[in-house]
Amino acid sequence: MSHTNQTLGEFIIENQASFKYTSGELSRLINSIRLAAKVVNHEVNKAGLVDIIGNAGDTNIQGEDQQKLDVYANEKFIQTMTKRNIVCGIASEEEDDFIAINSQDENHQNKYVVLIDPLDGSSNIDVNVSVGTIFSVYRRVTPVGTPVQLKDFLQKGNQQVAAGYVIYGTSTMLVYTTGDGVNGFTLNPAIGSFYLSHPNMEFPEDGKIYSVNEGNYIHFPKGIKDYIKYCQMEEGDRPYTSRYIGSLVSDFHRNMIKGGIYMYPKSSKNAKGKLRLLYECNPMAFLAEQANGKASDGFSRIMDIEPTELHERVPFICGSKKMVEKAEEFMRNA
Ligand code: AHG
Ligand code: MN
Ligand code: MN
Ligand code: MN
Repeated sequence: MSHTNQTLGEFIIENQASFKYTSGELSRLINSIRLAAKVVNHEVNKAGLVDIIGNAGDTNIQGEDQQKLDVYANEKFIQTMTKRNIVCGIASEEEDDFIAINSQDENHQNKYVVLIDPLDGSSNIDVNVSVGTIFSVYRRVTPVGTPVQLKDFLQKGNQQVAAGYVIYGTSTMLVYTTGDGVNGFTLNPAIGSFYLSHPNMEFPEDGKIYSVNEGNYIHFPKGIKDYIKYCQMEEGDRPYTSRYIGSLVSDFHRNMIKGGIYMYPKSSKNAKGKLRLLYECNPMAFLAEQANGKASDGFSRIMDIEPTELHERVPFICGSKKMVEKAEEFMRNA
């Protein structure tokens, strides 16, 4: 992969003309995500030194214990986008309802909504394992000048205008798409700038890594069990390697670079799986497709699902095209 001297800021300006809508608003929005990512990165890196690891003592609408960094990251991203008056609404994993943002002049002139998983993989914070942030951007469907509504957020993934993630890993990266391929930027912590380090990222068409929480095996549908057995079978380039971090962003990132498949199927415990359609699966699906990969619920395309509620969950299979297609074949034939 080639390394360039181009910063994310420069890249955004240079590529602004290729955006479908070129008001500059989307550029400002990605800039504000870049800024919030740096702030959260700074805090994540201090985990262990200051009192920010552990439980915040609350439960979110998902019924999950909120970690202190879940709450912190949520506040920082919302604050950054609200203060800069960039979007008309935000929906977050950590908020029960969407947040409507009035423009300074109360005219509701902003056109975009953002859906966000502020801290993904938060169960990994206390053990110093990579976590991330996932974001998804849509153009509102209700008229500008009116208050934002739920239907602005409940759009199919195929309507996304941008999506991406930040990975707080061995280095911090921001990876995003505006529908014209996927580019990855690495933070130089000494300078505080993201540099284009991974231009035009693509999933290898086939891969040898499968990522699934096999502890739930007994609860999985037959098609998934059969596919896992197939991955473990000695034949051709199999058995595949099993890698599961338990942090969607990190598992996806590795699989995109090395070739692999990520699965969070439904189970007898979670009838619709665990991952959230709007701020986890759709943005990752958009990135996957833009990177020559594929994302499916086992039978059909994730981005064609009509959402019915903010926090809805969906089974998720995502990664190298040939691997996802193979898993779908096992689902169909089960
Ligand atoms: P979050 O930390 O945002 O709630 O998401 C956690 C998700 C995802 O990151 C990860 O892949 C999955 O949960 C892991 O779940 P299990 O621990 O059940 O495997
Ligand atoms: Mn959570
Ligand atoms: Mn998550
Ligand atoms: Mn989260």
